Amino acid sequence: MPLPPYRIKVVEPIPFLGPEERAAALHAAGYNPFNLRADQITVDLLSDSGTGATSAAQEAAAALGDESYAGARSWFRFRDELAELTGYPHLLPVHQGRAGERILFGALLRPGQICVSNTHFDTTHANVELAGAEPRDLPCPEALDLDSPDPFKGNIDLTALAELLSGPEGGRVGLVLMTITNNGLGAQPVSMANLEAAHALCREHGVPFFLDAARFAENAWLVREREPGYHDWTPRAIARQAFDLADGCVISLKKDGLSNIGGCLGLRDDDLYARCEANLIATEGFSTYGGLSGRDLERLAVGLREVVEPAYLAARAAATARLAQLINDAGVDTVQPAGIHALYLNAGRLLPHLTPAEFPGHSLGCRLFLDGGIRCAELGSLYLGTMDERHRLVTPAPFELVRLAIPRRVYGQEHLDHVAETLAAIAKDPERVSGYRIVSTPPMLRHFKVRLEPI
Ligand code: F0G
Repeated sequence: MPLPPYRIKVVEPIPFLGPEERAAALHAAGYNPFNLRADQITVDLLSDSGTGATSAAQEAAAALGDESYAGARSWFRFRDELAELTGYPHLLPVHQGRAGERILFGALLRPGQICVSNTHFDTTHANVELAGAEPRDLPCPEALDLDSPDPFKGNIDLTALAELLSGPEGGRVGLVLMTITNNGLGAQPVSMANLEAAHALCREHGVPFFLDAARFAENAWLVREREPGYHDWTPRAIARQAFDLADGCVISLKKDGLSNIGGCLGLRDDDLYARCEANLIATEGFSTYGGLSGRDLERLAVGLREVVEPAYLAARAAATARLAQLINDAGVDTVQPAGIHALYLNAGRLLPHLTPAEFPGHSLGCRLFLDGGIRCAELGSLYLGTMDERHRLVTPAPFELVRLAIPRRVYGQEHLDHVAETLAAIAKDPERVSGYRIVSTPPMLRHFKVRLEPI
């Protein structure tokens, strides 16, 4: 195991509730982990977004943050770092990724247009729709085989993309957006060959080609490990090659910015930049802070350097791969091969006694909390299925998954072992996991506020 290239200097206590306290907490939360209080959770794997630990160097830089309204020193430090990393001539800060999506799509997409992606993240999907356009996912066919060991299951389906661009709907495609890594489909990476081919198709058809680069460093690491020809490259050089191929990017810097908040837009086109900047100033903040404090910008400038360090990426990738191995050895299948920021448990296969209408992924997530104080996110029929007006499932999701997202630099091997051990105990007697039914749901974004009860 590669050693993490850091040691711990500041720690935060984590709570340990007893089984009855956890049962009461989950009941009070309407059996929705989003409604739990964080101080009821022992190992929180709900998200890898904004949940990472900052370094001493980041905090030292933050102490020098310049909070001037316009033209702060911290902005120039952030901008220069990002410009060197990405090569984009125009950069705009935003408070987090989805603000960048809203601004970019508002400026780039017209109502009725299609935005094509390997897979849109959920907020990205929502922001395309809010711009009046249609999000369309074209994942590669290998992605739909959860067990396939194919190294680049994050790729876009190039045949389908070529057909769409040259077919009757081709004129409606306003943007192709590649999500690296593909968070919606198992944290799988996108190969450089796939990016190059998608870029070439977009160039041929005059369609803008952008990256949703929330996990640009982790994608680069997986390219280095898995794609022939890249083994001697630095992760930074691979990431740069990806940015070079695109007309721009939107990045949630809450992931590979190694910070708790932040995002950015990178653009080449002067006109598009001017339109995005005007919207940014009206809705996020002046274009030298975009909703972020000078201290945030400083942390990000340092985080963007730390995240591409090979020793950091090697240790993080190995920790996730080790957890996957432990889980698989215990008889629980995960989407193959393991990515870096998260593992996706195949709850449907582990719990065949539960129908999709009983929400096996949700049931497994609740059991992980009840037995081990672990919080995670369902990615199955509760999140993606369609329901009738009485909240009964009409169309199930294609898979019943549970995402274990791994915050950066936060948990040690013992914490991850605890997750594997809790799952192993569940896998010994899966029939003990019972299903759930919906009690009430909000009109939109069901999974965040839905309330359920055990069957
Ligand atoms: N794009 C991707 C691929 C993401 O994973 C996320 C967020 C966003 C955009 C939006 O960024 O949260 O800064 O507004 N993903 C988090 C997650 C929330 O848990 O996967 P944001």
